[in-house]
Amino acid sequence: MLLFVVILGLCCCSKESNQSPLGRPQLSGPSEASVKQIVTFVCELETYPKNEPILLQLIQKGNQSRVLGESTSLSGGTGSFVKEIKRKHEGYLECRASLQNNTSIEATVSDLHYLKVFVPVKGVSIVIKSGASEFFERTTLKLVCSVSEGTDVSYKWLMNGQLIASSRFHFASSEQLWINSTTSKDSGSYMCIATNHFSRTTYSSNSSQVIITVKDLVSDPEISFKVLKETSDNYTALVTCNSTRGTPPVTFSLYSNEQLVASMTREANLEAEFKVPLVLGQHMGFLQCRANNTDRITQSLQMALAVVRVGGRVTIHYETETGEAYSVVGLRLYCKVETGTHPEYQWFLNDTLLDGRGNFYYVVHQSPEQSMLRLSVDRRSAGTYHCKVSDIANTTAISSRKHYLDKEVLNRLPDLLVGFVFGCFTLVILLVSACCCAGVLFRNKQYGDTSVTGLEMVRMAAAYEDELDLSGYSEDADEMKTPREDEFDQASEASLEEWPGIVKQKKT
Ligand SMILES: *[C@@H]1O[C@H](CO)[C@@H](O)[C@H](O)[C@H]1NC(C)=O
Ligand SMILES: *[C@@H]1O[C@H](CO)[C@@H](O)[C@H](O)[C@H]1NC(C)=O
Ligand SMILES: *[C@@H]1O[C@H](CO)[C@@H](O)[C@H](O)[C@H]1NC(C)=O
Ligand SMILES: *[C@@H]1O[C@H](CO)[C@@H](O)[C@H](O)[C@H]1NC(C)=O
Ligand SMILES: *[C@@H]1O[C@H](CO)[C@@H](O)[C@H](O)[C@H]1NC(C)=O
Ligand SMILES: *[C@@H]1O[C@H](CO)[C@@H](O)[C@H](O)[C@H]1NC(C)=O
Repeated sequence: MLLFVVILGLCCCSKESNQSPLGRPQLSGPSEASVKQIVTFVCELETYPKNEPILLQLIQKGNQSRVLGESTSLSGGTGSFVKEIKRKHEGYLECRASLQNNTSIEATVSDLHYLKVFVPVKGVSIVIKSGASEFFERTTLKLVCSVSEGTDVSYKWLMNGQLIASSRFHFASSEQLWINSTTSKDSGSYMCIATNHFSRTTYSSNSSQVIITVKDLVSDPEISFKVLKETSDNYTALVTCNSTRGTPPVTFSLYSNEQLVASMTREANLEAEFKVPLVLGQHMGFLQCRANNTDRITQSLQMALAVVRVGGRVTIHYETETGEAYSVVGLRLYCKVETGTHPEYQWFLNDTLLDGRGNFYYVVHQSPEQSMLRLSVDRRSAGTYHCKVSDIANTTAISSRKHYLDKEVLNRLPDLLVGFVFGCFTLVILLVSACCCAGVLFRNKQYGDTSVTGLEMVRMAAAYEDELDLSGYSEDADEMKTPREDEFDQASEASLEEWPGIVKQKKT
C-alpha cells in the first residue's frame, strides 16, 4: 500500500518535472464588451522552446468548445486576437498553447477569462398578458414590457405620460406591471421605456402606446314611476329604471312579481322607460328593475305599483323668515294632503293660480308629500291663500281652508308670542318662589309639578312658534267667501284656548 502511494507520488513528480518547455499562457483582454465592438485579446507565453512553431488558440469554453482564433509563431510566445464581438461570445474564454509539429508535448491552457457582452436595448413592445385591452373593472391587468434584445435592461412604466408608482394596487417590477382590482381610472394609454447603460452611454427605447379601457360595471338601478293618462279612463305607469354609473351598453329589464315584463338595451345612457298598465287605487304588484352590462346583474329595490287616490284633509302650515327687529319678511307655506301617492298641488292667491315663479313668490313641488309656496311678505303678497290637491284622475280636487295673510297680521304674532313667553316665565318664577316658601312635607311633590308645568310651557311655546297649523279652527273655511283680516288673531286665540291649563294658570 505504502509502496503504491510512493509510486503514485513519484509518477506525479516525474510528470511535473518532466513537463515540457511550454509554460502556462496568460490571457488578457476586456471583461466586458458591447456587440460589434472590435476588441483585442492577447495571449502571452513566457517559456517556450525556441525554433519550434507555437500554436496559440483562443477558445470559448462550453458544452462544445469553439476556437475563436489561432496564431502561429516561430519567433515568439505572444498572440493577438482581434475580434468583432457578437452576442454569442459571452462566456468563459481561455488560451491554449501547443507545439505545432510536436504532439508529444502536452498543450497548456491559461486561466479562464469571463467576457460579458453588452447588447443595447431594442425592439420594445407591450404584451397584454391578461388578455384583452378592454375589460371590466376589478379584474387584474398584467402587462409585460418585452424587448427583442438588450442586456441588463431596466424598465419604467408610464400611463398617459405619467410615471406609474407602485401602490397598493399598482405593482411595477422589472418588466411586469400588475394592476390589481382595476377601476375606470386605470383606463388610458400605457407605455414602457426600457433602458440600459454601457460605459457611460445610456441606451433607451420606448414601446408604442397601448390603450387600455376599463369599463364600469353597472350600478344598482333606481326604480320610479309616473302615471300617464292615456284616455279619460285608462292609465299607464311609466316606469323608469336608471343607474348612476356603468359603461354602456346596458340592458335594463323590468320584472313584475319576479316575472320578466320587458327589457331593452341602452347604447348611450343609463336610463330605460317601460309602460305598464295601471288601475288607479289598486295594487298592481311589485316591480323591480334589473340591469347588466356583463354577466353580473344588478337590481333595484322592489317597488309596489299602486296609486293611492288623494283623500283626507288638505292642510297648510307655515314657517316665517324674520328680518330686522324680528319683523316677518318671508314666509314658506307648506301644503300637505293626508293620503295619495301621486298628488298634484296648486296654490291660489285670491283664487288666482300661482304657478312656477312670480315677482314675489315661487312654488316648489318638493315631493309627493308636500308642496311649498315661498313668499316675500309685502303689499303684493297680501291676500287670501289656499291650496288644492288633485290626482291624475282629477275627479277629486280637495281644497285647503283659506287663510288671509298680510304684513300686519304676521307681525302681530311675535309680539303676542313674546308676551306669552314672558308671561310663562314670570309664572314659573312665581311658582318656584312659592315652592321654596312651602313646607318641607310638600316640597318634593310641588317641586315635581312645577318642573313638569315649566317643561310643558316651553314645549308649547316651541310648537306655537314652529308649526302653527293654520287650519286649526273649527269653521269650514272653504265656505268662507270673505275672509276677515283677523283670522290669524282668531287662530292665536284658538291656540291659546287649546291649552286651557296655561290660560287658567295665567289668570290665577
Ligand atoms: C511543421 O509542420 C508544418 C505543417 O504541419 C510544416 O509546414 C512545417 O514546415 C513544419 N515545421 C517544422 C520546423 O518542421
Ligand atoms: C395582486 O394580486 C396578486 C395575485 O392575487 C398578488 O400575488 C399580488 O401580490 C397582488 N399585488 C398587489 C400589489 O397587491
Ligand atoms: C420616449 O418617451 C420619453 C418619455 O415620454 C420621451 O421623452 C422620449 O422623447 C421618447 N422617445 C422616443 C424615441 O419616442
Ligand atoms: C288602455 O290604453 C292602452 C294603450 O293606449 C290600450 O292598449 C288598452 O287596451 C287600453 N285599455 C282600456 C281598458 O281601455
Ligand atoms: C287679494 O284680496 C285682498 C282683499 O281681500 C286685497 O287686499 C289684496 O290686494 C288682493 N291681492 C291681490 C294680489 O290681488
Ligand atoms: C283638473 O281639472 C281642472 C278642471 O276641472 C283643470 O283645470 C286642471 O288642469 C286639471 N288638472 C289636471 C292635472 O288634469
